[in-house]
Amino acid sequence: MGRLMVRELINIEAVDRAFGAVDVLRDINLKVNDGDRIGIVGHNGAGKTTLLNTISEKKQDTGDIDFAPGIRIAYLTQIRDLESDSTIEQELGRKGRQFQELEDEIASIEARMVDPAFYEGDWEPVMEHYTQLQQTLGRQWRW
Ligand SMILES: Nc1ncnc2c1ncn2[C@@H]1O[C@H](COP(=O)(O)OP(=O)(O)O)[C@@H](O)[C@H]1O
Ligand SMILES: [Mg+2]
Repeated sequence: MGRLMVRELINIEAVDRAFGAVDVLRDINLKVNDGDRIGIVGHNGAGKTTLLNTISEKKQDTGDIDFAPGIRIAYLTQIRDLESDSTIEQELGRKGRQFQELEDEIASIEARMVDPAFYEGDWEPVMEHYTQLQQTLGRQWRW
């Protein structure tokens, strides 16, 4: 008998995560194997986003999150304007373009920030916007 070899991509063991006194994730154990398609179902506030963020950022309080060597995490946040007849791959491409626009805007603000004259003007709202762009970028894609 041939044995089916399945490559394990992500292994999560005994992961806990709390925000203050609120235990959002408790004793999470999960394996993600090559080829898996996994759906996570839970009511609002159940911890779906926290689970995905914790895994992709390895931000657990306790427990272990291990990635197989060489794997890359791509994390697409909620898509509100999904085209029903396009594939997820096509949607990823679309988000990829938005990602490029974000990077371009961040780069253009950075170019202004190195100019001392920038700080003589109304720079604070620009910096606030810049921080927001970076947060959006961080949420959109993690590799
Ligand atoms: N950064 C945070 N700080 C404090 N509490 C948080 C934070 N993120 C999420 N929570 C809390 O964790 C719980 C799970 O939230 P979340 O993961 O967003 O759920 P879901 O994605 O399933 O709707 C909620 O009670 C939420 O208020
Ligand atoms: Mg969520």
